[in-house]
Amino acid sequence: MMPDIRLYRLKKTMDKVKNIISVASGKGGVGKTTISTVLSLILSERGYITGLLDLDFHGPSCHTILGIDKMEYEEEKGINPYKAAENLYFASIYPFVKNGYVPLRGMELSNALIEFLSILNWKELDCLIIDMPPGMGDVLLDFIRLVPSPKFLIVATNSALVIQTVRRLIKFMIEGNFNILGIVANMIRNDDALVRELAKEFSIKFLGSVPFDQYFEKVLGNMQEILRTNLAAALSDIVEQYIKLK
Ligand SMILES: Nc1ncnc2c1ncn2[C@@H]1O[C@H](COP(=O)(O)OP(=O)(O)O)[C@@H](O)[C@H]1O
Ligand SMILES: [Mg+2]
Repeated sequence: MMPDIRLYRLKKTMDKVKNIISVASGKGGVGKTTISTVLSLILSERGYITGLLDLDFHGPSCHTILGIDKMEYEEEKGINPYKAAENLYFASIYPFVKNGYVPLRGMELSNALIEFLSILNWKELDCLIIDMPPGMGDVLLDFIRLVPSPKFLIVATNSALVIQTVRRLIKFMIEGNFNILGIVANMIRNDDALVRELAKEFSIKFLGSVPFDQYFEKVLGNMQEILRTNLAAALSDIVEQYIKLK
């Protein structure tokens, strides 16, 4: 059988990335996109050459947090991720679909993922943050087959509805020997006990709580203001304590 030359190119471009942190949950609406995007802003501001990759093909939205909905890619034997800020390079399928929809399934989704991952020309990155779609579907299953040694940062909120689904994802990850960086409790108003218990149940690290920040919606699109929010402050503490880059 012919080898898939896209996989060769994918490996070559991924080899330039020193650390991969993949933000996942199993559940939608818990703050994966918010946390991955703000995390990438924090790391780039600290001087790390950072990539942010939006892999939510059905609902790309990192660009809205960054405030760059007019982005276009430069092409050069592939696609150069968009320079969103100093030290921050961003890739998303958003510029291809704009406000259209992406009704892909099964092999179509696998092919879209492989092609997108293989045409991106990442620079030498200290860290690539990946915003994963919800669920344990095609994208996650292909992702773990294709992307070398990612660390997973799991996001949950303090709700029984969320916890039961995140528990399934963690079980799956532990059985598959994934590298789990830890779990973040997001949108916390006062109590984060359910998320702490979940971390304890699986002996994974509880990385910290990010408060519900009602101000966040008002600063969408403004990177400097985002970095001044309580949400960003909580994530900075987590970076300081737990995100050790090679
Ligand atoms: N800590 C937070 N404080 C306030 N709003 C938040 C916080 N985290 C996420 N949100 C909001 O919650 C909604 C869902 O977040 P999002 O990052 O899109 O979740 P996901 O990517 O997991 O689906 C968005 O409107 C987002 O702005
Ligand atoms: Mg999302």
